[in-house]
Amino acid sequence: MGEMLRPLGPLVCVVGARPNFMKMAPLVRAFAAHRRLPGVVLVHTGQHYDLAMSERLFTGLELPAPDVNLEVGSGTHAVQTAEVMRRFEPVVDELKPSCVVVVGDVNSTLACSLVASKKRMPIAHVEAGLRSFDRDMPEEINRLLTDQVADLLYTTERAAAVNLAREGIEAERVHFVGNVMIDSLRQHLPRAIAPANTLAIAGADPTLVGGEQGFGVVTLHRPSNVDSPDALAESLELLYEIAQRLPLVWPMHPRVRANVDRFGYGPMLGRAAIALLEPQGYLEMLGLLANARVALTDSGGIQEETTALGVPCLTMRQNTERPITIEQGTNTLVGRDRARAADCVDEILRSGGKRGRLPELWDGSAAERIASHLECWLAAKAGARA
Ligand code: UD1
Repeated sequence: MGEMLRPLGPLVCVVGARPNFMKMAPLVRAFAAHRRLPGVVLVHTGQHYDLAMSERLFTGLELPAPDVNLEVGSGTHAVQTAEVMRRFEPVVDELKPSCVVVVGDVNSTLACSLVASKKRMPIAHVEAGLRSFDRDMPEEINRLLTDQVADLLYTTERAAAVNLAREGIEAERVHFVGNVMIDSLRQHLPRAIAPANTLAIAGADPTLVGGEQGFGVVTLHRPSNVDSPDALAESLELLYEIAQRLPLVWPMHPRVRANVDRFGYGPMLGRAAIALLEPQGYLEMLGLLANARVALTDSGGIQEETTALGVPCLTMRQNTERPITIEQGTNTLVGRDRARAADCVDEILRSGGKRGRLPELWDGSAAERIASHLECWLAAKAGARA
């Protein structure tokens, strides 16, 4: 009888782009450990496809190779989203999932959620309810729409539930579970690669990170910071200013590298104490972040990782969908304000900067909480059907 009540189709877990991989890895592991959950089918949409943006991350995170790769590649937002939908539909038709599990806010997250919702398949959205209130960010549209169609909304901080309530989402669908990205960080931190080794392997000068001042880490990829000649020039001028205070290590997103070449900014960068690297693997990135004096970034994930590591973060944006990293963590918004960023770095070099504390439930067990909850939810649903 118990057997008959078990959900039949697999859990279809979707990843598409770099920030998804560190969120999905602990979930896949926790789902596999819960014997009463259906098996996992891991689908990679192929939104990110470069070795450095995808495969290397799988290895570092010990994420199993995807069972299905939709190989959508790059395109405009409409083309990319449509292509994921077109290719995901036959996969769910065949597999009839018990639940489609999506993470984060990338185009693949929304595309797969839309397909599943039209087929009335249950959807679990991990990292639900975050809002920047800035619809110029494509990710904000993805967040808003994914949360509308998801059945289970697993949140990382309490502010998310307030956002979701404002959008008319019933409280019963919302579950505060903590941060799966921090599960990955805690699991892999002991294996993080020393920054000097990362630089040496990348062919950069390892002594750059060995000085008395230490070093800063940079990541930038938001279209608002890097896609127009003016914005990218302002971003580079800010970094140039900071690099006069402490050396910087910058694993560069492929789109930014292309823009630097296209706009002819290579020589400007060449004059600064900035080591330019290819996008790095997870263990290399953890090593850089854990040992940095400061991170300068427009990434969502790095705002959270630096808060968990207690490393000051200067976020080169006007807003954040992760307010807890400001209220409790080490994050400060600086936009592209060069003087403000320089003041913050001076303060960090003088006193260590903002200290912060670990937010509630960022304890390494978020994936376990989600697996336990999902197991009960699916069992109750199967019971109601029988
Ligand atoms: C995507 C996500 C963003 C996430 C970021 C992390 C959306 C809307 N955006 O932005 O939320 O923070 O990933 O990197 O889903 N490219 C490559 N190789 C790759 C992948 C991309 O060269 O493996 C280049 C291509 O020129 C491509 C461009 O990057 O056109 C944009 O890639 P895309 O995945 O569409 O968006 P990201 O800017 O990476």
